[in-house]
Amino acid sequence: MQAYSENEQLLTRNIIFGMKPTIILAIESSCDDTSAAVIRDGILLSNVTASQKVHEEYGGVVPELASRAHQQNVLPVVDTALRRAGVDRHELSAIGFTRGPGLLGSLLVGTSFAKGMALSLGIPLIEVNHLQGHVLAHFVSEGKADERHPEYPFLCLLVSGGNSQIVLVRAWNDMQIIGQTIDDAAGEAFDKCAKVMNLPYPGGPLIDRLAKEGDAERFKFAKPNLPGYDYSFSGLKTSFLYFLRDNLKDNPDFIEQNKADLCASLQKTVVDILMKKLRKAAKDLGISHVAVAGGVSANSALRNAFIDYGKRYRAEVYIPPFSYTTDNAAMIAQVAYYKYGAGDFCPIEAVPFARI
Ligand code: KG4
Repeated sequence: MQAYSENEQLLTRNIIFGMKPTIILAIESSCDDTSAAVIRDGILLSNVTASQKVHEEYGGVVPELASRAHQQNVLPVVDTALRRAGVDRHELSAIGFTRGPGLLGSLLVGTSFAKGMALSLGIPLIEVNHLQGHVLAHFVSEGKADERHPEYPFLCLLVSGGNSQIVLVRAWNDMQIIGQTIDDAAGEAFDKCAKVMNLPYPGGPLIDRLAKEGDAERFKFAKPNLPGYDYSFSGLKTSFLYFLRDNLKDNPDFIEQNKADLCASLQKTVVDILMKKLRKAAKDLGISHVAVAGGVSANSALRNAFIDYGKRYRAEVYIPPFSYTTDNAAMIAQVAYYKYGAGDFCPIEAVPFARI
């Protein structure tokens, strides 16, 4: 017998009894991606993202340029998301938005737009924590039959440009950070090491691509030795920098001649560091469901390490589709949908927050 998900049952009930569906528009603008998504009764209808190329030449996100680009992008992105979903704005039940953490100027654009729309349509406003969104990206449903979603409780390795955390997830609204970086995030380590090799921003995806041709065992870099489940990546960054500096003294072409091996070895070191603590946490807590989320979860070596972990330890592993790894509004819509069900709305006075 075919099993129907809660969302599908809800959709069927609404069709049969003519009940008004819950349709939410969500807006994400925490960093350098302007994204809007529409979700109806828990099923994602559209997810549209405009990325900003303007930062590439600066080697990192320039906050002022990011907020200006959000200003230009937000209206067309929202408009496209509604059109792709086939939804008129007057059908919306609520507006969800990323309240933080992130860049304040960027967040202000999405927050102000969401407030304006909610006010003009006379519908509730729902604030969403960006990090909760990344974790719950695993529950985004496109209504396909073969979708897999984690079972509670599970551990989520949340790795992005600004965060590296191990989160114990007991329910959609019950999460505990049990370990986190004490300095740089994993994505930051990738991006900073890429910059040292003269690769453009963001360096993470380029390192991933170059590493495919390289020998991951060729070079060894520092690994931290922290107790518990916390991470540290600043030592790795420094050891990478000093290693290049020493070798460049003898051979000015060292980076060019060894780029693939450097990328592969660096990537392996980051993945080893991430997986070691995750394995320890899963073992200590006796948890067999593990997920990965955030921009760095697009990394192919990390994805392979998860698959390998699942096979070796008979664990259920959850790796998000690429479209839900980097910043996107689908994950914000998912959280907003849960919050709508719980009647968890926010006042129009809500202001964005840069940090938790
Ligand atoms: O989650 P995200 O889009 O933005 C936030 O930080 O919130 O993550 C961006 C980070 C960047 O540091 C980028 O270099 C990294 O994710 N990243 C990758 C890959 N794709 C994105 N790092 C390694 N390998 C990748 N394939």
